[in-house]
Amino acid sequence: MNQDFTVTPWDVSGTIDYKKLIEDFGTEPIDGELLDRWKRLTGDDLPMALQRKVFFSHRDLKWLLDRYEAGEKFVLYTGRGPSGHTHLGHLMPWMFTKYLQDKFDAPLYFQMTDDEKFLFKQDLSMKEAMSYTYENALDVIALGFDPKKTKIFSDLEYSKTLYRIAMEVAKRVTFSTARAVFGFDNSTNIGMIFITSFQSAPAFLPSVEAGKNIPVLIPQAIDQDPHFRVTRDIAPKLGYYKPAAIHCTFLPSLSGSDKMSASKPESTIYTVDDLKVARKKVLSAFTGGRVSVEEQKKLGGTPSVCAIFQYYYYLFEMDQEKLDQREQKCVRGEIMCGECKQELADRVVKFLEKHQEKREAARDKVQDFIVSDYSAVYDKLKRPQDKKEVAKLMKTMKEYCSVKEGEQISVRKSKEFK
Ligand code: TYM
Repeated sequence: MNQDFTVTPWDVSGTIDYKKLIEDFGTEPIDGELLDRWKRLTGDDLPMALQRKVFFSHRDLKWLLDRYEAGEKFVLYTGRGPSGHTHLGHLMPWMFTKYLQDKFDAPLYFQMTDDEKFLFKQDLSMKEAMSYTYENALDVIALGFDPKKTKIFSDLEYSKTLYRIAMEVAKRVTFSTARAVFGFDNSTNIGMIFITSFQSAPAFLPSVEAGKNIPVLIPQAIDQDPHFRVTRDIAPKLGYYKPAAIHCTFLPSLSGSDKMSASKPESTIYTVDDLKVARKKVLSAFTGGRVSVEEQKKLGGTPSVCAIFQYYYYLFEMDQEKLDQREQKCVRGEIMCGECKQELADRVVKFLEKHQEKREAARDKVQDFIVSDYSAVYDKLKRPQDKKEVAKLMKTMKEYCSVKEGEQISVRKSKEFK
């Protein structure tokens, strides 16, 4: 891999050369021909995420569309590693997944790899990871997915269903492959070595459930591709279709470099951010401006390195003409950074305000989305134990399973798509 950047599921840093990444990872670029076909198939304008090449790479998308045109519907599969609150970067692949669900009338399997995050983050307890599963699920639901066509599951809560498939995968992945793909070394805990097997399982679950091969499409940012390279290698050995994938680039952090990431909270906008805090973060962002207003008027700014411009590009200016005008005005020194920041801050705050409302409303809908087949937490709640501990667990899980202390706890076992 290029010396200047790193892209793995657990570390994204440096200035990413996406063209190089396509070569390194061996994926395919989304080219004009594919976009034309997409347009014909959907009978609609391309979404901005495709027009602007935010989704830029794929695996077997042409094959998936062939199957679709031959009458085989596909299932969508995506996910989240719940180690903290959701940020705007996470929303990008999920918003696109929502578009795909609507356009192709596709069911969605949404995996919360709370097991992965528990294993990966030394200071994250299992309970915390599970409570973030719940918190992050609210963000997913807030995006408007169809409850009749969407299952959200936590690995820790759906392990009975996933385990057998994960075992089939694990049996066929050697340590040497895991080490080569992920760079594991002697200090890696053994749980992490197994985790790709669990992330592979939902790619085969639709086929297991249907008793026949079902095509699956996995929208994701490109950092997740190493997992699915392994999944795809294994698929034919298990008699399944290889899952197709569509990859997006990373929403950068507000500091202008690297991806938006939980490791840099001051330059990351979380969906739960207080609106004033979010505004402040935008106003403190790195821009492509000059040292003085005079100089900027004379020489113009540099949108290509400006975090603020990137935010318009990725999420907050969907009108191409207006985006082009903003870029031109900047380059010609006709608009100053302060103005651009203020406008973006207003848009971000408006977005968050609406999202937070929908997020709150999602608390009443969680049960319609989450599927579970096992629960240590529920079990624990049933056993008499330390009252404080029970109260703490109840607080975390109250809305999640909507039970009251002492009540019979029922967990939805499975869910049939209508
Ligand atoms: P996680 O929680 O790291 O990220 C969730 C999803 O968000 C993408 N992503 C981003 N996209 C754009 N800009 C960013 N700055 C940014 N940061 C993260 C990730 O690529 C991912 O699509 N192990 C996974 C969870 C998972 C999963 C999946 C993801 C399980 N099954 C299937 C994709 C597809 C994880 O920890 O994702």
